[in-house]
Amino acid sequence: RSLPGLAAILRGLGLDAIPGLPLAADVLNRPLDIYHVFLADALHELVNCDLQKAYDAIQPSTSLENGDFEVVLSKLFSDGIAQPGVVDELVQKFPRPHPLFNPPVQEGGHIRLFISPKSLPVLLFPYISDRRSKYGILDNTHDAHSGSGDSIVADPGPSTVDQPAPPGSTTPAPPPPALKKALVEFSSPNLGQDFRTDHLRSTILGGFVTNIYEAMGWQVVRINHLGDWGKEIGLLGLGWIKYGSNEILEKHEDPFRYIHGIYTAMENDLRPELEGIRRKQKRKAREGDGGMFDGGGNGDILNILAERDATFKRLEEGETEAVELWERVRATSVGYYTGTYSRLKVTFDDYSGESLVCRNPEALGRVEKVLRDKGISEERDSVGCVIDFSRHEAGRLGTVALRGTDGITTYFLRDVATVMDRLEDYNFDKMIYVVGEQDLHFRQVFKTIELMGHPEIAAKLHHLTFTRGPPQWGSARLLGDILDCCEDYVRRAATRVHPEQFPPHLCRPPVIRAMSVNSLVLQELGTRNKSHTIGLDVEMLTATEGKTGPSLQLAYSRLCQTLSDPRIPSLREMAGMTVSDSSQLDYSSLWDIPWVELLRLLARFPTVTDAAYRTLEPWTLVSYLFLVVDELNDSFDVVDQEHSRADDADAADKLAARAVLYDAAWHVLENCMRLLNMTPIPR
Ligand code: ARG
Repeated sequence: RSLPGLAAILRGLGLDAIPGLPLAADVLNRPLDIYHVFLADALHELVNCDLQKAYDAIQPSTSLENGDFEVVLSKLFSDGIAQPGVVDELVQKFPRPHPLFNPPVQEGGHIRLFISPKSLPVLLFPYISDRRSKYGILDNTHDAHSGSGDSIVADPGPSTVDQPAPPGSTTPAPPPPALKKALVEFSSPNLGQDFRTDHLRSTILGGFVTNIYEAMGWQVVRINHLGDWGKEIGLLGLGWIKYGSNEILEKHEDPFRYIHGIYTAMENDLRPELEGIRRKQKRKAREGDGGMFDGGGNGDILNILAERDATFKRLEEGETEAVELWERVRATSVGYYTGTYSRLKVTFDDYSGESLVCRNPEALGRVEKVLRDKGISEERDSVGCVIDFSRHEAGRLGTVALRGTDGITTYFLRDVATVMDRLEDYNFDKMIYVVGEQDLHFRQVFKTIELMGHPEIAAKLHHLTFTRGPPQWGSARLLGDILDCCEDYVRRAATRVHPEQFPPHLCRPPVIRAMSVNSLVLQELGTRNKSHTIGLDVEMLTATEGKTGPSLQLAYSRLCQTLSDPRIPSLREMAGMTVSDSSQLDYSSLWDIPWVELLRLLARFPTVTDAAYRTLEPWTLVSYLFLVVDELNDSFDVVDQEHSRADDADAADKLAARAVLYDAAWHVLENCMRLLNMTPIPR
């Protein structure tokens, strides 16, 4: 945890001092950065460039098969070109043996380097045994509170950490400065309506975003922005008059499903009317009229839309009966969702929603006034109040309405007003909207905030977009049904379809439940945000191989079982060992495949979490997780072969070294799964 501690380990490896620290190097949190800095140091002397330039020319390799680092030659030399022979000479003159690296190899425009296996256990294990559940995570709050004397935190991340008072000093350490605050808005389903696949992905992706932001030292506020206002709420109100009953709702064993049923019935009732409108529009277009159809209500069945709008207007005007119904529906929905999200380990600090600003007309009025006074919005005949972005040098954003001709607020206006409202409530440093597609909508909202005279607020707003899949997840329409369905598939596979692949300890109900949720999370987060998720795929949910919940759980259980093997020295003893004790262990048995491959991966973890934090692309963590699982499985194969040969020569040293390695791997699996919001179940 301290530079002096690190310096002592490095001295043990024959290295004198840590070279000056280039920008971005975080040697106290990321073991790979140690290697990175020393490699930069060697290169800058050989090439005679400055250390920062050498550092920036080095990157962790994309695949471990090609080494641990690659040096991008075009970035290393001043004009981007190496003179003939210079690279050969560089490779030749690279110090060998180097305490941290095997000899370099040139390949095309790169020099590739493998970390020396000898250095890895000595350097890596102290990091993990020191950080444990914080390994891979920026632990920037610990030192500020713990008062341990010699702490130096190289990169405190978004907040600054004061040095604790030296031991024995009488002045109390100043209170740690407030962490930066991130609002993350995610899930956000609509009252009464289906829980679509984009809501599902937003929920799971949002869970990851909030975890990683917290892990990297932010204070996070989780907001569920319910679709609880607008004309659809009018449709639900109308449905209540037609089909609903307060008595039934009160006694219903599944009141949320009852509400959903009423909304669905209304959608069905409305369908012929919408089709009629569509037909009429088409006919008009064919006849060259091209004008928009201006409303629903004419003819015998064509009046639901008009009634819907009238019902919603009663709510907007605050009519008691309408407001009471709305409150009941909202409370029932929040109750249902709170319980159901907990199955995914997702919680919210705030179930706000679109209604919030609408029920506070002053907040809306203030925003509309600024827009009007600054000449940003304008009245247009037959359309109402709009912003025409072409008048504000943003023509690509088109035109957007603030209110309809009927005076009803739009989704757009509600979102603009909500930004200002949240700023007042939370004074956030960053707000992230985790919402599938809707890119144009959010660009319009952010631009409007800027036009209102607040570019500094607009700069704090981020839309984390992702691609939507098909609207529904199989035939499930509610979140709880999706989770039940996953669980059913996994249970059936484990107990009936492929029982031979599932050992009995995986068939216990809590394990089935956790595996099924983990599988769902892996499906949703296993692909890039901008590519489709797989959706419902039974094979992908239940397979015991590949990137699935069961395959992960198998490896994890095996790891836990190994760690409780009575022949392995007690890890509790090991955990109590100081860094210098564990560096006395003989690690030579880990210098070979498969052990060294596992070590190289574990050393990468903080580098991977850092990338996942910067890009908010959790697939990078998922791929990493399964690389670790694969290496673990390879190592278990070796262990099994040894058992069958009863090969116990120098067992004590070997087992002790393995115990430390497996304990480190356990921490990495745990930490990685926790960031992805998954549940590891110990055997
Ligand atoms: N309720 C919306 C929908 O179902 C998503 C809300 C996204 N958040 C926002 N601030 N607009 O599509």
